[in-house]
Amino acid sequence: MPGLLLGDEAPDFEADTTQGRIRFHDFLGDSWGILFSHPRDFTPVCTTELGRAARLAAEFSKRNVKMIALSIDSVPDHLAWSKDINAYNGEQPEETLPFPIIADKNRELAVKLGMLDPDERDKDGMPLTARVVFVFGPDKKLKLSILYPATTGRNFDEILRVVDSLQLTAYKKVATPVDWKPGDSVMVVPTLADEEAKKLFPKGVFTKDLPSGKKYLRYTPQPE
Ligand code: BEZ
Repeated sequence: MPGLLLGDEAPDFEADTTQGRIRFHDFLGDSWGILFSHPRDFTPVCTTELGRAARLAAEFSKRNVKMIALSIDSVPDHLAWSKDINAYNGEQPEETLPFPIIADKNRELAVKLGMLDPDERDKDGMPLTARVVFVFGPDKKLKLSILYPATTGRNFDEILRVVDSLQLTAYKKVATPVDWKPGDSVMVVPTLADEEAKKLFPKGVFTKDLPSGKKYLRYTPQPE
């Protein structure tokens, strides 16, 4: 079954992009990476998504995340579409965006990475690429995957939020609870013993009493 599962290494594919030919591992380098796919160029939802992604480029860069998009049309199409995306953002209609767009004309990568949406087809009956979000860590392993159908646009605030959670929980023994936002309290991971937790989290560990008597809801202020 093609596709990528959490913990899988990113395939080291070569591809033509709006910023030249890339090899994916070289592109990622030692950074975090986000790969987001699109059904087609010159489509309305994709244009709004790429516009937002471009406006958020500084936020991703601040988090050491390299961005790359993928769509099934050609590099010349991507470049022409980029002018529309910049115009949609109220900018000069230039061909440059702050990240490359992969040209996956024959859908080879989309098939390999499990990105096709069987419900959305082009005029020849070929399935379009769905809206996938893959976040890779500096070890090039898949840390998060979200799969939306072509007809539902992504929420880039949520994507930044999950990057913040992934980066925090990669380095601290915490997990982020429902609707967590940066700055909110976090949960101590269940595998950490109480004594160790007290040492690791000097700001304090606060437990909520529950009918079961089990002390598993352990909060601590977000560690630095
Ligand atoms: C869009 O980006 O607007 C779109 C693309 C494919 C199917 C539906 C919507």
